[in-house]
Amino acid sequence: MDLRAVRGDIAQADVDVVVNAANPGLLGGGGVDGAIHAAGGPSILAECRAIAEALPGSRLPRGQAVATTAGRLPARWVVHTAGPVWSATRDHSAVLRSCYVESLRLADGLGARTVAFPAISAGVYGWPLDDAALQAVSAVRSVTVEHVREARFVLFGDEVLAAFEAALAA
Ligand code: APR
Repeated sequence: MDLRAVRGDIAQADVDVVVNAANPGLLGGGGVDGAIHAAGGPSILAECRAIAEALPGSRLPRGQAVATTAGRLPARWVVHTAGPVWSATRDHSAVLRSCYVESLRLADGLGARTVAFPAISAGVYGWPLDDAALQAVSAVRSVTVEHVREARFVLFGDEVLAAFEAALAA
């Protein structure tokens, strides 16, 4: 499995699976979440609602992942995962890594060949860029896949791209 870091809007990524940096409520938001729902259309939210309703407390536990249609996106599926909120006092690294591991496993199980990841938790959730990138790359590298040939980190901005390129080179 190849790993790449590119700059761009993940909603436009021409891949089989786009991973969404969602929240436990699965009802949309800003950032990646907002871009995916805006570009993908209402069918994604409709499926998110149905999935959320079937979950205990109607919430997706942080670190877990669920799949929906990709609606009008070029992708075939969206895999929604809820990242941890950064804390300076509590180490949530395992939850952040789980977002990548569970999303990749789910995408592989769907038969995806290419998967696009955002920098999960590195925006609104405040995770420091360099560590977010190191956790992401090592988590993705730790997964044994059957079908996925490319994991593509799609990043908004030169600073995030540089952090992921450094993590890939480490
Ligand atoms: N394509 C790629 N990357 C993007 C895009 C986009 N269209 N929009 C934002 N980003 C980048 C951000 O700059 C950041 O580096 O994705 C990274 C993750 O940022 P967020 O989208 O804020 O995700 P996160 O930090 O995980 O926070 C999730 O924000 O939007 C809400 O509903 C969401 O509550 C959840 C929270």
